[in-house]
Amino acid sequence: MKSSIDRRLSVAPMLDWTDRHCRYFHRLISDRILLYTEMITAPAILRGDREKHLGFSPQEHPVALQLGGSDEGDLANCAQIAEDMGYAEINLNVGCPSDRVQKGRFGACLMKEPELVASCFDAMQSKVRIPVTIKSRIGVDDEDSFESFTNFIDTVKTAGCGTFIIHARKALLKGLSPKQNRTVPPLKYDYAYRIKALNPDLEVVLNGGIETVIQAEEQTQYVDGVMVGRAFWNAPWLIREMHNGLGLGNDALNSQPRSRDEVLLAYIDYCRTMISQGLSLHWLIRPILGLYHGLPGNKKWKSHLVTQAPRRKTDVSVIEEARKQVNYVS
Ligand SMILES: Cc1cc2nc3c(=O)[nH]c(=O)nc-3n(C[C@H](O)[C@H](O)[C@H](O)COP(=O)(O)O)c2cc1C
Repeated sequence: MKSSIDRRLSVAPMLDWTDRHCRYFHRLISDRILLYTEMITAPAILRGDREKHLGFSPQEHPVALQLGGSDEGDLANCAQIAEDMGYAEINLNVGCPSDRVQKGRFGACLMKEPELVASCFDAMQSKVRIPVTIKSRIGVDDEDSFESFTNFIDTVKTAGCGTFIIHARKALLKGLSPKQNRTVPPLKYDYAYRIKALNPDLEVVLNGGIETVIQAEEQTQYVDGVMVGRAFWNAPWLIREMHNGLGLGNDALNSQPRSRDEVLLAYIDYCRTMISQGLSLHWLIRPILGLYHGLPGNKKWKSHLVTQAPRRKTDVSVIEEARKQVNYVS
């Protein structure tokens, strides 16, 4: 099923990073970019604190929920719950290489079991009307030929999957940490390009190592969209630059905050609301640390936030004071 969601540009799911506050902040920077949750496992949703795992603000829309799991029944139930809560897409994680995830038989090790991924896809898509998508690697361990990757894609495509997000490096299941698995295996963008060329009907989103607007523009000559992770975390204003570079919308025509400072002011309002609900400033400052990346005073901005927020847990003026350290008129 090909969906109407705009996937030209998305923020990658990142555990402990792309929580609801981060997504709220990113949405202030781009009203079009597609946002993903961190990976949430099916058992956590079915047996844990559902509101804590799945709660989000309506302003974050559209948001895709990334699920971790390989039990068809559990995944289908989670997909249903997520659709009922208003998520725009369900994404299955077939890329995480951590030991914990391997023990649970999901994440990247599922690249070795395309039939199981196909039946998980089918179980979820049969339950919901929102699109179900797959985020995969291009292989694992020695199974890294283009043929085995095509076999993976073909098998899941046959089950009806129309959108693949491809982190274009393989994962090594033994001997590398998850962090090393994001840098050590080389990027092979051509795998994603060839999948798209062989399957023009598929929507292919490329992920891995994209750091500049020019790179993003280049990739979209070969694939349908790009997903960016670490570069957006380190320098969130890059979201706006890519939004503009990829022609996602004209700032002048919509109501999104126009400058970094306008975004910050809107986010401070959000912080006030969250703090009034009992949240500590510590959790709220993390996504904004990179907002003034590359500008004079950036170091002082960050240092003020990280030293003051733990001491003054409910005082949003910490953010306003930190802003004064940045020598920049927006
Ligand atoms: C801190 C961190 C946490 C991550 N957590 C997830 C996750 O929950 N699910 C997932 O599919 N990928 C996860 N990833 C991988 C990213 O989604 C992405 O595939 C990877 O970082 C490559 O993209 P990039 O080079 O643009 O960062 C994580 C990456 C980082 C840095």
